[in-house]
Amino acid sequence: MTTIRAVARGCGHYLPARVVENAEFATTLDTSDEWIRARTGIERRHFAAEGESTSDLAIAAARAALADGGLTGADIDAIVLATATPDNTFPSTAVRVQTAIGMKAGFAFDIQAVCAGFVFALAQADALIRSGSAERVLVIGAETFSRILDFTDRATCVLFGDGAGALILERQEQTGTSGDRGLLATDLNSDGRYTDLLYVDGGPSTTGTAGVVRMAGQEIFKHAVIKLAQTGGAALAKAGLEKADVTWLVPHQANLRIMTMTAQKLGVPIERVVVTVQDHGNTSAASIPLALSVANSEGKLRRGDLVLMEAIGGGLAWGAAALRW
Ligand code: ACO
Repeated sequence: MTTIRAVARGCGHYLPARVVENAEFATTLDTSDEWIRARTGIERRHFAAEGESTSDLAIAAARAALADGGLTGADIDAIVLATATPDNTFPSTAVRVQTAIGMKAGFAFDIQAVCAGFVFALAQADALIRSGSAERVLVIGAETFSRILDFTDRATCVLFGDGAGALILERQEQTGTSGDRGLLATDLNSDGRYTDLLYVDGGPSTTGTAGVVRMAGQEIFKHAVIKLAQTGGAALAKAGLEKADVTWLVPHQANLRIMTMTAQKLGVPIERVVVTVQDHGNTSAASIPLALSVANSEGKLRRGDLVLMEAIGGGLAWGAAALRW
């Protein structure tokens, strides 16, 4: 029996030019390159230039994905953009991308699930394609987290970076088996009882300001390892696949220790984990598509590879997606 699948048709990414090494934080804070590397695996991150906004990053990533897929904006009929750092409270950052890539029809909108945003966006794109609402969806994760950091708080400001990644998914008829190309399963979760562990202390309807990141790091760490392994396993089970089927684990890039422990729990050897956290830091919703695009540009991803993506962030919100490349 045939089925409709959302199949990858090009990906791309963009990183702002400015690279901030760990050592730069040690000039203003009681921290060190050694501490940040040992505790997080992060060595450097990119920060957007003054005047460079989330939509600028998203547009550059979108153009790279279109070029990779041999497509133009006119070939896209929907954009789902995941961000916690939009240009404005409204309109959506997605409509700015829509105009910039010359997409004159269709629709574009943002979604907000913080660091899990890209996985949630993939699930939305999959639903749009399967329901017949869209043929080709541009899924973007884009963030300028440097704009919502407290640069006096050493426990948070060293962790995050800016960037954008994009993946185009298109409707294809497949056989309906776990050997199909495309998105095979997604698993989404949230639990609002944990809002106090990771949040931004501002917002339009509370303080009228953008606010800055507040986090209980150790608590988040514990939730992350347990919940990421659970959701990764759940996505595989829904797809009718097993741990041994995973070719590449592409996790949210927050902390190398979280990634290593989750990979161990999932039974994926570390050589099969795409790791970019050392160069990007935690770019929230952008981290998975950035890692995916870097792996693709390095020639790591081969047609037929089973890619398992998983992420967790503020909410808490967490999820996973199994995609055959
Ligand atoms: N430099 C030096 N010392 C620091 C720094 C720093 N940048 N940050 C914290 N410390 C200190 C603390 O103040 C503390 O000092 P104290 O013992 O004198 O009180 C000490 O280091 C240990 O602090 P912990 O919080 O226990 O350190 P931990 O090993 O847990 O590492 C970290 C902290 C890196 C934040 C870790 O908890 C973590 O990565 N948590 C996950 C958080 C995360 O990734 N959040 C991102 C958003 S959610 C997501 O994307 C998954």
